[in-house]
Amino acid sequence: MASTMFSLASVTPSASISLQDNLKPKLKIGTSSQRAFPGKDFMKAKSNGRTTMAVAVNVSRFEGITMAPADPILGVSEAFKADTNELKLNLGVGAYRTEDLQPYVLNVVKKAENLILERGENKEYLPIEGLAAFNKVTAELLFGKDNPVLQQQRVATIQGLSGTGSLRIAAALIERYFPYSKILISSPTWGNHKNIFNDARVPWSEYRYYDPKTVGLDFAGMIEDIKAAPEGSFILLHGCAHNPTGIDPTPEQWKKIADVIQKKNHIPFFDVAYQGFASGSLDEDASSVRMFAARGMELLVAQSYSKNLGLYGERIGAINVLCSSADAATRVKSQLKRLARPMYSNPPIHGAKIVANVVGTPELFSEWKEEMEMMAGRIKSVRQKLYDSLSAKDKSGKNWSFILKQIGMFSFTGLDRAQSENMANKWHVYMTKDGRISLAGLSAAKCEYLADAIIDSYYNVS
Ligand SMILES: Cc1ncc(COP(=O)(O)O)c(C=O)c1O
Repeated sequence: MASTMFSLASVTPSASISLQDNLKPKLKIGTSSQRAFPGKDFMKAKSNGRTTMAVAVNVSRFEGITMAPADPILGVSEAFKADTNELKLNLGVGAYRTEDLQPYVLNVVKKAENLILERGENKEYLPIEGLAAFNKVTAELLFGKDNPVLQQQRVATIQGLSGTGSLRIAAALIERYFPYSKILISSPTWGNHKNIFNDARVPWSEYRYYDPKTVGLDFAGMIEDIKAAPEGSFILLHGCAHNPTGIDPTPEQWKKIADVIQKKNHIPFFDVAYQGFASGSLDEDASSVRMFAARGMELLVAQSYSKNLGLYGERIGAINVLCSSADAATRVKSQLKRLARPMYSNPPIHGAKIVANVVGTPELFSEWKEEMEMMAGRIKSVRQKLYDSLSAKDKSGKNWSFILKQIGMFSFTGLDRAQSENMANKWHVYMTKDGRISLAGLSAAKCEYLADAIIDSYYNVS
């Protein structure tokens, strides 16, 4: 195992009862009587008829709360903003930029928004499970319109707060209904996965994924660790365009991964944040999920429309649970709704309508596919140009071809922490400290400069 378990988990079989029990003492502390506050000098209480007012004297009741560390990814953007050098480059955050390095709103999104405006649609609450038209198209996009699992009504789908919120609801489902199970996540993985499972109190451990020697997949290690996990574990898989490495298993390797998961009765949990954005094809990028589904396996899939439709701030995504029967799917859906209700009541409407219109209107759908191909194509072309620049400038004979084997928005450069810091300090190139760069934030014009920065950091910093 690449790393041992680290979790806040305290698991009980009937979580809903224990949660309510846990709340009781906290609710008592929250009453306005003086006895409830810690320390005599801490507060003065004024009694005025029926109301008791508590007035802070000099020490905040939040004094015991320490400063949280900066988010490793969003912190990179802060450092970038503070840098005044005109050569600066932000390759930290995974958001698409044009060749001029500007944010991009897709034309199909603008058209869908115009349609919504023209129809004068209202802003009433959605149901807890979200917009029905969105839930229908999102499951079809993922599994394929004619997939028998949809006709058999075996998929429980609810709209989520983008990829993150959908993962969080699924984590809550695992915590409540699989209290003795843990989840295996890849080493490394997207930074927020650990936060999500920690906060949901789902124990996790890591399976080997990245091999620094080859800057490629440690397939043997991955299989060994999945095999060694207790039977019935959840296995978190990146459906395509693995974040942060950009390294995906080959179709043959995916089959072997499915074999071992099936044999060990594990439950696959796919995180699909880049459908269509990795290869440029929606179908190709969903092929891992569809292959597992075709084997009759039960599985979970969190979806996001942040990247492929550029709807980052709209917070639109979904959680899908593929069950072995329609009856189980109905029950699972009812519980997903039950988990969502006290967290955020019901999801936001605007992004759901955009997706439903884009996917559900044939002309917009084909226009979306063209725009997505264009975005994926721009990323592929800067990937090629970066490789060409590195190969031309590096006279040592080092093979940089691992960059071309990676897929999607990111590239794992193999630079370590000190080298990544040199990229920012000396070259004004901002990236995450694990050596990841977002190629979506790179332009063709900046490839040579980036290659110089990488070569200097790689050879001159240890
Ligand atoms: C692997 C992975 N999962 C999920 C997400 C969730 O993104 P969002 O919550 O914006 O949809 C991201 C975003 O970077 C990601 O890379």
